[in-house]
Amino acid sequence: MLASGRGSNLAALLEARARGELPVEFVLVGSDKASAPALRLAEAAGIPTLALDPRSYPDRRAFDVDLFARLKASGAEWLVLAGFMRVLDGEALRPWVGRIINIHPSLLPKYRGLHTHRRALEACDAEHGASVHFVTAELDGGPVIAQACLPIEPGDDEERLAQRLLPLEHRLLPAVLRLLAEGRLQWDGRAPRFDGELLVAPLRLGDHGLQPQQRPAPAPSSP
Ligand code: GRF
Repeated sequence: MLASGRGSNLAALLEARARGELPVEFVLVGSDKASAPALRLAEAAGIPTLALDPRSYPDRRAFDVDLFARLKASGAEWLVLAGFMRVLDGEALRPWVGRIINIHPSLLPKYRGLHTHRRALEACDAEHGASVHFVTAELDGGPVIAQACLPIEPGDDEERLAQRLLPLEHRLLPAVLRLLAEGRLQWDGRAPRFDGELLVAPLRLGDHGLQPQQRPAPAPSSP
């Protein structure tokens, strides 16, 4: 897992695992910030950590090449990004395509990048949410796997909206990682598949976990 900050999504994954709901082993938590609270959380959970300082590399690509070499050496099969505040080099991540996911606090394709809560409020959107997607070289641009939605309320400001969304993120990410770990979700760089079927629309987080979106019933054919 890679994280630059707080690590609340890492905490949610660890809790899901402790409840027996997430059949994965955490082999490494890495960061581009040595002071990231996510690293302290990992240490407390006995997970090896890695902090690489981008300033000690000649350029962005050199950082990414070293990072991915170390991730490979860790034995990791999957890579989860949660608040990792760097765009990854397309060449360096190529061998990982289909094995890297990211959680992003918007209903992609809306609001790639930063300040997503503010932008949803400024646009007077009726709903907001979070997405988990496969990572490509395009920022927040890979195929969306699953989303959690919540209605925007009159009293919402940026902070309140972020706070209300976070618990949904904490259910969404473990649920998606579980599907990957169980082999129910695959992406080989073409079309993502869920339970062997093409994933035509993101899964939705509901009261009973992730569900395919209901498609409208076909219109009755005329006689
Ligand atoms: C989350 O809101 C996630 O959607 C975004 O960065 C934040 C990370 O939070 N990509 P945390 O570090 O997991 O608490």
